Amino acid sequence: DTAPNGCPVSPQAASFDPFESDYQLDPAEALRWSRDQEPVFYSPRLGYWVVSRYADVKAIFRDNRTFSPSIALEKITPTTQAAQDTLQRYGYAMNRTLVNEDEPAHMERRRALMKSFELEELAHHEPMVRRLTREYLDRLVDKGEADLVDEMLWEIPLTVALHFLGVPEEDMDTLREYSIAHTVNTWGRPSPDEQVAVAEAVGKFWQYAGQVLEKMRQDPAGHGWMKYAIRRQQELPEVVTDSYLHSMMMAGIVAAHETTAHATANMLRLLLENRAVWEDLCANPSLIPNAVEECLRLSGSVAAWRRIATTDTQVGDVAIPQGAKLLIVSASANHDGRHFENPDELDIYRDNTTDHLTFGYGSHQCMGKNLARLEMRIFLEEFTRRLPHMTLVPDQTFTFVPNTSFRGPEHLWVRWDPARNPERRDN
Ligand code: HEM
Repeated sequence: DTAPNGCPVSPQAASFDPFESDYQLDPAEALRWSRDQEPVFYSPRLGYWVVSRYADVKAIFRDNRTFSPSIALEKITPTTQAAQDTLQRYGYAMNRTLVNEDEPAHMERRRALMKSFELEELAHHEPMVRRLTREYLDRLVDKGEADLVDEMLWEIPLTVALHFLGVPEEDMDTLREYSIAHTVNTWGRPSPDEQVAVAEAVGKFWQYAGQVLEKMRQDPAGHGWMKYAIRRQQELPEVVTDSYLHSMMMAGIVAAHETTAHATANMLRLLLENRAVWEDLCANPSLIPNAVEECLRLSGSVAAWRRIATTDTQVGDVAIPQGAKLLIVSASANHDGRHFENPDELDIYRDNTTDHLTFGYGSHQCMGKNLARLEMRIFLEEFTRRLPHMTLVPDQTFTFVPNTSFRGPEHLWVRWDPARNPERRDN
């Protein structure tokens, strides 16, 4: 095998497969060899250049003209004709959102739609997140055992996401199914048979997004980012187009909830595996915001993102041809010892934790990062207060939906002795 620049492909590069379990279980560990020996390599299985070191990943995020984000939502596995036909039957026309839009259109749109993400706007959501978290905890505190993903970590971020967007909260299970289909459709490697089933769900998701949008157009007053976007369209029709609104409606539901659900599950798992840190947080909740950030660094929910080279260029000392596609693995960058001291250690006191690249970097950096942080902080505040004695169910096997980018366990089993619940002790 040779790479498109003529260099031979090393055996490790040739066997790299992000849809297999090593990368799924621990993407940073699966790329340790690359960070050490070959930080930019061509993966023939993927057809992408893979970039694993902190400085290189950050430099690519920073320069969104040389490294365009236009392929961020492209299907990483080419679709079969049958799947394409299915999507077409649903009139599927996912196009530009913010995350895959080039300049100058991107910045104009990002500025036009930023207001809902500002801290004072987000403050509206805090009481709701707190109330939901308490309600869900009330339901399970006496049970002694729970799968936190199925019983709350999925539904709360989805409810918050719909609230944030202004979408009526209905059909949560269907939306969960649609969102996973969108992940597999975008970043997975479904078999030809699976592709048709996935396309069915994605097509229905697209139609659902269109219907919600139509309903909102009839009454675009009130809170919610999508309602705000509809009102902005009336002022700036060239900037906020119809195609944009429909695509963003669908992508927004995914961006706003699946990422946060996974991030919270990864965080709770990591903290319970590091009992001393968990106990520090229970004793001193003011440490929680640092812990959230350190968990996003060490076990974030977006493992990798994509860019395409718009010109012949260079990453590190590797020549990259125009048109080359790059998988920039933020999960690996976040474990790079060249930037983070003792990179594999969960250290909630490190001073550069917020340098992590889980939210991306530069002009496309995640707009929802403060909403995600707010949710993760409230989850931790409530869990450490009400279930400080919970532990992971031992010997459980964690499974992940195979894909390059969205990463979180499908289930997270914890247990505790309800007789030891603090609220019971206090009575
Ligand atoms: C973009 C991660 C939560 C909305 C992004 C990007 C990443 C990311 C990696 C691309 C950044 C880049 O290209 O530089 C995450 C993670 C989350 C999270 C890890 C949770 C822990 C959210 C939430 C929302 C949201 C809750 C909405 C409420 C967006 C939007 C963009 C974006 C609108 C596009 C920004 C642009 O291109 O200008 N996110 N996200 N995200 N995210 Fe998030």
